[in-house]
Amino acid sequence: MTEPSLTGKRALVTGGARGFGAAIGHALAEAGASVMIGDVLEDLGTESAAEISKTGADAAFVRLDITDELSWQDAVAATIAQFGGFDILVNNAGIEVTALLADLDAAELLRMLEVNIVGTAIGIKHAFKAMRPGGPAGAGGSIVNISSVAATIAFPGIAGYSASKSAVDRLTRVAAMESGKLGYGVRVNCIFPGLVPTEMGVKLAVDLTAVGLFESVDAAIASVVGQTPIGRLGEAPEMADAVVFLASDSARFITGVGLPVDGGMGM
Ligand SMILES: NC(=O)c1ccc[n+]([C@@H]2O[C@H](COP(=O)([O-])OP(=O)(O)OC[C@H]3O[C@@H](n4cnc5c(N)ncnc54)[C@H](O)[C@@H]3O)[C@@H](O)[C@H]2O)c1
Repeated sequence: MTEPSLTGKRALVTGGARGFGAAIGHALAEAGASVMIGDVLEDLGTESAAEISKTGADAAFVRLDITDELSWQDAVAATIAQFGGFDILVNNAGIEVTALLADLDAAELLRMLEVNIVGTAIGIKHAFKAMRPGGPAGAGGSIVNISSVAATIAFPGIAGYSASKSAVDRLTRVAAMESGKLGYGVRVNCIFPGLVPTEMGVKLAVDLTAVGLFESVDAAIASVVGQTPIGRLGEAPEMADAVVFLASDSARFITGVGLPVDGGMGM
């Protein structure tokens, strides 16, 4: 197989200010794409885009709140105006709230569902409308959604999060089906990342301890590593490489799949 190439492609990465999103932005740019970083964190997002530009790639930042339709309209329009098209959406932004079911706070759960499910769904909507024939970009494309290993296993303390990421998985399959049936020319796939010590990943280990499931943060991490055949936590660039593959023409006959990138934890 040749290296996946994204030469000439125009990408929008949500939640690209830090963590997976920043790594995905770099990897897409390295593969040849122009990259729009979208995030609610304006300073960090601007910095993230500037870091990518330093490598010689075309990159910019747009403020995007994925729960807001108008914000999506602006971000998609900005991507097309900046780069002359829109070929790749990485629906990466998400939040995680740890809670035992017996202690669930309905308002916190609703907020997480709003970001992780509604935000991802309306992202697919706006990408479809832009990329499908007759849309302002109009040349088809590829969407990669970021689900989680949490959608494939039963880990205590993350019921709401797991439910939200299972929804991202199903959204992916139905979106791939609609795109195919309606001739949009957009492939839609997702990945199931394992635990990675980004801000979210570290906070999860802290919160699992705080709700009483583990004696210490180290014990929480050791439990995850112990359930992972490869025997370690993941790294953000490993998620990014999988996204580049699915976004590229190397995956041209792949749509509607969820690819575990979890060291085997979810098998
Ligand atoms: N880190 C892990 O272990 C892990 C594992 C599996 C899946 N994931 C998923 O990967 C994705 C990225 O996670 P991460 O670890 O990089 O998290 P992170 O918290 O480090 O970064 C998330 C980014 O999303 C942005 N964001 C949050 N809400 C937003 C909104 N409404 N609009 C726009 N941007 C918003 C944040 O500002 C932040 O920049 C998430 O969807 C997460 O659920 C993470």
